[in-house]
Amino acid sequence: MGLSTIILAAGQGTRMRSNLPKVLQPLAGRPLLAHVLDCSAALAADDVCIVYGHGAEAVRNEFPDDSLRWALQAEQLGTGHAVQQAMPETPDNNRVLILFGDVPLLTSATCQRLLEETPDDDMAVLTVDMDNPTGYGRIIRERGDVRRIVEEKDAGPEEKTVCEINTGVLVCPAAKLKRWLDNLGNDNVQGEYYLTDAVAMAVNDGVTVHGIKADSYVEVMGINDKKQLAEVERALQARLVDALMKEGVGFADPARVDIRGTLKCGKDVFIDVNAVFEGNVELGDGVKIESNNLLRDTTLGARTVLHSNCHLEGATTGNNCEIGPFARLRPGAELANNVKVGNFVEIKKSTVADGSKVNHLTYIGDTEIGTKVNVGAGTITCNYDGANKYKTKIGDGAFIGSGVELVAPVEIGAGATVGAGSTITKDVEDNQLALERSRQKVVPGWKKPVKKGEG
Ligand code: UD1
Ligand code: CA
Repeated sequence: MGLSTIILAAGQGTRMRSNLPKVLQPLAGRPLLAHVLDCSAALAADDVCIVYGHGAEAVRNEFPDDSLRWALQAEQLGTGHAVQQAMPETPDNNRVLILFGDVPLLTSATCQRLLEETPDDDMAVLTVDMDNPTGYGRIIRERGDVRRIVEEKDAGPEEKTVCEINTGVLVCPAAKLKRWLDNLGNDNVQGEYYLTDAVAMAVNDGVTVHGIKADSYVEVMGINDKKQLAEVERALQARLVDALMKEGVGFADPARVDIRGTLKCGKDVFIDVNAVFEGNVELGDGVKIESNNLLRDTTLGARTVLHSNCHLEGATTGNNCEIGPFARLRPGAELANNVKVGNFVEIKKSTVADGSKVNHLTYIGDTEIGTKVNVGAGTITCNYDGANKYKTKIGDGAFIGSGVELVAPVEIGAGATVGAGSTITKDVEDNQLALERSRQKVVPGWKKPVKKGEG
């Protein structure tokens, strides 16, 4: 039997109190819906349909994938009405798996189990026991069998004590579901067409409804407000860090790290507290990340040490580099092996070859630095004339004294030395000493100023 996955993503998410549609709220740096699509992709369904409505354009633009089918729910009249919008193009002889766009931690393994344990002609709902079931639909069983689902708002006092809840994940044959949905009413407290009412209809039609329990409530947590979003964020972070620890990555505190994208680590990587990883980050063997660092789309070579308080974006380093504390590497910063970048140094769109050092208070932009160069404290490459950017080249083994301005375009030859405090506007030949500053003078008759009235 074929499989159609229908993902409900049309709701506004009123309780989020946000201008951003709920399914676009970020979780680990990606929209909620992206996580649900990952889960669905792993199931290899032959038809994936997203029911969208609130923030229609924004939601659709976020997922340009051609293989997705979109069903518009212009008015959000309830989860049952939402599924109905997807049914006309759903093949009758498929099974349907319903997923919710606001339940993002669900694993494909659990969905797979649900599909395998449910005979093709039956219905199954994924349930879970919760210590505090408030807000969820309750699973009402009779002699162990699932009979119906009652929503929190419609539940009587006794029904409210039931701790087995509806996760929203449901599987059943498409043709029958079409019929049940066509017969849904909205005579309930919220005046909505509830998908959950299809359960009692199935029971009435003699269809067996299985209540299959998820292993833990964590993967089926629904997100309705910012508090739940934060809770699910922490749960997902714990899952990501657990996986990395299993691979051998060391963390000072697994609760104080954030991964918003993919983090690939070699052997013996150690990560101290408050590190944030965004986009694609790769850390080679033996890399050490000290406290308070942001790394976005960055690769660090083996045994590189990132000291505290650095901001790295679009940067790559070779092996054995040392960076920070308080360094900023911007897009296109490419360091080779054994490079040192110290405090209050900013490097943008520049290459730094093996063994070179840029240790203090420096801006390097649009620059090629050779091997074993020493760039002194307070050096600035003046790469911008207010309209255009120009390049600076510093040859192998050059020594740039402290407080130097290199006005681009300019080239410093290999082995050359630039004296401290110089403003260099012309190329310097290999092995030359270049100085550009006025001779120190003594001003005759100069007196130290004093405060008015004190003299
Ligand atoms: C729903 C279930 C509840 C379950 C809970 C699990 C129903 C009636 N209730 O309640 O039993 O315990 O999820 O998290 O199914 N949506 C649409 N169109 C609509 C309404 C909703 O696409 O007209 C989408 C939402 O975007 C969301 C999902 O359906 O992704 C769930 O809707 P929501 O309003 O959050 O339902 P709950 O009240 O949480
Ligand atoms: Ca919900």
